[in-house]
Amino acid sequence: MKDLIDILDLSLAEIDELIDVANDIIANPDNYREKCKYKKLATLFFEPSTRTRLSFEAAMYELGGNVLGFSEAQSSSAAKGESVSDTVRTVEAYADIIAMRHPKEGAPTVAAMKTQIPIINAGDGGHNHPTQTLTDLLTIKREVGRLDNLTIGLCGDLKFGRTVHSLIQAMVRYKNVKFIMISPKELKLPEYLIEEVLLKNKIEFVETESLDESMDKLDILYMTRVQKERFFNEADYVRLKDTYILTPEKLERAKDTMRVLHPLPRVNEISVEVDNDPRACYFRQAKNGKYIRMALIMKLLGIE
Ligand code: NCD
Repeated sequence: MKDLIDILDLSLAEIDELIDVANDIIANPDNYREKCKYKKLATLFFEPSTRTRLSFEAAMYELGGNVLGFSEAQSSSAAKGESVSDTVRTVEAYADIIAMRHPKEGAPTVAAMKTQIPIINAGDGGHNHPTQTLTDLLTIKREVGRLDNLTIGLCGDLKFGRTVHSLIQAMVRYKNVKFIMISPKELKLPEYLIEEVLLKNKIEFVETESLDESMDKLDILYMTRVQKERFFNEADYVRLKDTYILTPEKLERAKDTMRVLHPLPRVNEISVEVDNDPRACYFRQAKNGKYIRMALIMKLLGIE
């Protein structure tokens, strides 16, 4: 495997191995401080980001490597009309590995075909976000202790939310995982995921508009923000953006062992009073993102 474009590029055994390495990094960070000495990571971000870009950069620094890149399309030659292919063919002369975020679905796939160095998809449009999924899997494993036998509620923008799309594709490979898809009608999961992933794999799922209805059954509640930047008109966004707001009262019916995840950034969908609840683990999740990216960078660079 040269690149990570889609979570399905990784087998379950490879995911287990990345999780094990991430846990070992958390336990023994000193063993990893020079693993990427003299290596360079380029972060090419054509779309806004806080956690994904900074956690990639922190990951590379903690491995003893260096980082270069840009954080907005406007400050790169894309603003002059350069193609993604030409950008990556240039960057491969300066870096050993690239993490790329792009508003166009499939851009990292094109990039990967044009260069010999590993490309990591750090989010492509409303499509996929495999390193967020690795972060989510590490978080679920650390918080709940298992990746099988789970009832997972996915709540919010299931149409445009790329983290949800990648997470579903990852989770259907584990035994006895059920989904409750909670969204307004307009933001339901795309048909291709229902047909090609859920039905094809005979996965148990329900679609509902109610967040309260199944609260007591969930092992994981994965909240997402309504993806403003993917809407065609502002009025629809405004009407839908506050459909779900998780509050301490709503959480009263949830199991003590349930965990609330959110890829972040949060807008209004989780009230800040929930943050102190021990079940809220989104900031721990953000931290896990750095460790799993350290494991991934080492794997793609072929470092033991
Ligand atoms: C997510 C993304 O970019 O898709 N953010 C992230 O990487 N943690 C989620 C979002 O932007 O809503």
